[in-house]
Amino acid sequence: MSLGKTGREQWGSKLGFILAAAGSAIGLGNIWRFPYLAGENGGAAFIFIYVLCAFAIGIPVLIAEILIGRSTQKDPVGAFKALHKSPFWPAIGGMGVLAGFVILSFYSVVAGWSLGYVVEAIKGSFYQYTAPDSAGKHFNDLIGNVGWSVGYMAAFMLLTMLVVYFGVQKGIERGSKIMMPMLFGLLIIVTIQGLSLEGSSAGLSYLFNPDFSKINAKVVLAALGQAFFSLSLGMGAMLTYGSYLKKKDNIPSSAVWVAVLDTSVAVIAGVAIFTVVFATKQSPDVGPSLIFRTLPAVLTQIPGGYIFSILFFVALVLAALTSTVSLLEVVTAYFVDEKKWDRKKAVLIFGMACLLLGIPSALSFNVLADSTMFGLNFFGLTEFIASNLLLPIGGFFISIFVGWVWHKATVRENVIAGAEGSFGKYPWLLTTWEIVLKYIAPILIFIVLLSSIGLI
Ligand code: TRP
Repeated sequence: MSLGKTGREQWGSKLGFILAAAGSAIGLGNIWRFPYLAGENGGAAFIFIYVLCAFAIGIPVLIAEILIGRSTQKDPVGAFKALHKSPFWPAIGGMGVLAGFVILSFYSVVAGWSLGYVVEAIKGSFYQYTAPDSAGKHFNDLIGNVGWSVGYMAAFMLLTMLVVYFGVQKGIERGSKIMMPMLFGLLIIVTIQGLSLEGSSAGLSYLFNPDFSKINAKVVLAALGQAFFSLSLGMGAMLTYGSYLKKKDNIPSSAVWVAVLDTSVAVIAGVAIFTVVFATKQSPDVGPSLIFRTLPAVLTQIPGGYIFSILFFVALVLAALTSTVSLLEVVTAYFVDEKKWDRKKAVLIFGMACLLLGIPSALSFNVLADSTMFGLNFFGLTEFIASNLLLPIGGFFISIFVGWVWHKATVRENVIAGAEGSFGKYPWLLTTWEIVLKYIAPILIFIVLLSSIGLI
């Protein structure tokens, strides 16, 4: 990062921004959440709808969000304040900051599991798995242990706080450049291994042969929620990252890059996991434990598997870390920019608060497993509220703002800046983007929201 004319930090290069934004986007959402949601929602049909949502709605909203950030050079609340005088719009920014806080609390639980699995990999625990089910039992024993699950969640939160405390620039921008390619490489090795297993083709057909009769409102809701979650949309994370961009940077092309990288990692992770699930005759719909049951078993069968399993979980931890940092960064940026707090104080206070909120989520897999509301435990409830309500609501209002509220000529001038060769040259691209933001995205999100709260 370098300092701009105003003294505000800026990305060093377009690549720096794409990697940081992809670092935020690519995380547990791709490797942990996407496969288990696909497994719970019927496989290929879900994936088909997901890819459609990510490209047709995700990319336009991603462009809109980055654009608000770049145009105002501010945090989510400050950005809306700068663009509109009614207090309503800054409140939407504030809802995003809150969503970031809630997501961070449950996300850190799973990130903590990944951290714990680095230690399991080092201990060689995966080699004790004799039958496919023993991996599942081992996982259940671990997350059922209060000390293990709360301890690793807390450790992960402290790690996140440490990075944000010392600033994102050098650590995260440089870290993403090393870790993202490494994760990609390791994922491909695991995928090839998965494909070589006998019976893996059943997994591929589960992933790529859609049974369209499986598509219903619940599947579309899950797919749209996941598209927002995976692209880090709807809560101002991409807005905040966009605020470090220079005017001449090309927003549409960066957005397409981020979406393509993000979707590829999700689909590759899906192949890696479902080939193993089907080859070992496990059930695809076991929920959040899916990757922890399947991957360790196959990792140990690869030559050098001991090392690969350690590297894989280390890469997973780092992918998660570049995402949690972007979440805590939004909360921190808000208190630093709007409330003039000292950065370190904001990190300590909100990191600790988030750690406390993470405890009931960590306990949802042991002592609080049976305390449910609407059929969901605390973890499930916070995940549902954030991913299926707050993010779509945020995305809805971001589309409405850019599509309807913001002055049209200003929007056009801003989005074309840096994208003269695409949005500037082909008016149909610009118009399509506007139509999606004006009509398609808000209407679809609205319908999906109504169905998620049971109104239709
Ligand atoms: N996109 C990340 C993932 O898939 C998680 C994440 C980071 C996120 N920042 C976000 C999700 C902002 C929603 C909003 O793992």
